[in-house]
Amino acid sequence: MNLSSTEQALEAILQTFTDTNFVLTPGGVILDYKANVSSFSHIFPDSIRDKRITDVFPARLAEQLRDALRQVEQTGNVVPLEYVLPVLDQEYWFDARLIPVSDSKIMMIARDITECRETKLKMERQVLQLSILRSIDLAIASGLDLNLLLSMLLDRVMTLMHVDAATILLLNPRTNLLEYAAGKGFRGNILQHTRLKLGEGGAGRVALEREMLQIADLRKDRMEFDRSPLFVEENFVTYWGVPLLAKGRVLGVLEMFQRSPLKPDKDLQDFFVMVAGQAAIAIDSAMMFSELQRSNAELSLAYDATIEGLSRALDLRDKETKEHTARVTSITVKLATRLGIKQSDLIHVRRGAILHDIGKVAIPDQILFKPGPLAKDEWDIMRKHPMIAVELLSPVNYLEPALEIPHWHHEKWNGTGYPDGLGQEDIPFSARLFALADVYDALISKRPYRSAWSKWDAVQYIESQSGIHFDPRIVPEFLDLINTNHY
Ligand code: C2E
Ligand code: SIN
Ligand code: SIN
Ligand code: FE
Ligand code: FE
Repeated sequence: MNLSSTEQALEAILQTFTDTNFVLTPGGVILDYKANVSSFSHIFPDSIRDKRITDVFPARLAEQLRDALRQVEQTGNVVPLEYVLPVLDQEYWFDARLIPVSDSKIMMIARDITECRETKLKMERQVLQLSILRSIDLAIASGLDLNLLLSMLLDRVMTLMHVDAATILLLNPRTNLLEYAAGKGFRGNILQHTRLKLGEGGAGRVALEREMLQIADLRKDRMEFDRSPLFVEENFVTYWGVPLLAKGRVLGVLEMFQRSPLKPDKDLQDFFVMVAGQAAIAIDSAMMFSELQRSNAELSLAYDATIEGLSRALDLRDKETKEHTARVTSITVKLATRLGIKQSDLIHVRRGAILHDIGKVAIPDQILFKPGPLAKDEWDIMRKHPMIAVELLSPVNYLEPALEIPHWHHEKWNGTGYPDGLGQEDIPFSARLFALADVYDALISKRPYRSAWSKWDAVQYIESQSGIHFDPRIVPEFLDLINTNHY
């Protein structure tokens, strides 16, 4: 290739991309650099030109880069690289491609994926939340022995919060003392004999004030923990304690200990409080079986709050989704009621409708928000959103009956839909009726790739697809419903 035209092509590419670009030598010298995102200019001052990557990047990253450059040089192929760049106390995640341009030049295009990654982590945490609720629910339903329940709760808390140790103290109603009931993660048997009056020590304060207590550095603030001289040897740094409240009574305190500093994180705190709330319900139930049903009702409310939280992950990316989801859910439940779906199944239909497009969280922005028609390879990715939802949600047992809609909402009556190409009655009934609500509402909504249709056009379209896309027996019911509801 002619050198100057390579040069020009390169310059043109650098100007066009919104990503961060580097031009590097195979040996690791930075020849050129462009960051079109202004917030990143402080990370790389202009003076990094002609420097070596080892002088510019943290050692670990420089090493990763050197390996990747070597791989490009040896294979002549494009090499992907995901890396993290610590800046002050933030971590920025990048997804990069190293592309051979000539023998002496390798271009690296890096995209900031920090936000995407956070959304994903948040979702993973929410899925875990659902699973903990489920296991607590099961424990209640099966009338688990109190000690086993406490031990299971601690296991869950430690895995979900990634903490080193945790205890549960229960308030003895006769003596009014907080007594050690269960603990995990300790090196010695140090807290086993703990007995605290209300207001005494960390846990005593939590129980008295009924509020979460956080101690950022126990090494400085050990007064609260004179429970045992051996405590010092545990080397704990962080302490969080939260009251176990049920029906307005303090049942005890849930505590967690960490041998390293813990960054305060609002989500994590909220989660800890929520887990404590669920744990308190479980403990209360294990103590008093007669209250079983009421607690189950409360758990069911907690489930639904979590499902809404999960669906909000998608709303975060696309403001219009929220209203779409709310409308589609409401009309679907109405339609299901009218068509005689059992009262006890309506909750699954509702949950399924709320979560129908949750799989879109994994669809890249360039595809989801593309202002025009999708290319074939983009469609291949878009068509995965139903199966992504199934994969994402299937660890949550109690959502299984709610998966019909996320899984099969794009199947068509004539068998040409996806992901399974099911036809007619093979498509679950809930998914068949949901499809009508989804398509109708999608059509009368603005999309990145087209403006909104009029209601009249949408109705015409639905009618024209009766027996093709839609179950011909449901179409008249649906049209009657939107008519009477002025929807
Ligand atoms: P969505 O926008 O929520 O659309 C849901 C379903 O409504 C579509 O499923 C389709 O059956 C129907 N629908 C929506 N808009 C139209 C339309 O303009 N004409 C017709 N005839 N039907 C429409 P489908 O086709 O499987 O698409 C699934 C998802 O894929 C869509 O959800 C949307 O997020 C995306 N998508 C579909 N077509 C395009 C496109 O041309 N460009 C982009 N960027 N995304 C698209
Ligand atoms: C969107 O508006 O992009 C997603 C909502 C939906 O299609 O069903
Ligand atoms: C699934 O969608 O894979 C299972 C849910 C169901 O069978 O209803
Ligand atoms: Fe969909
Ligand atoms: Fe939809």
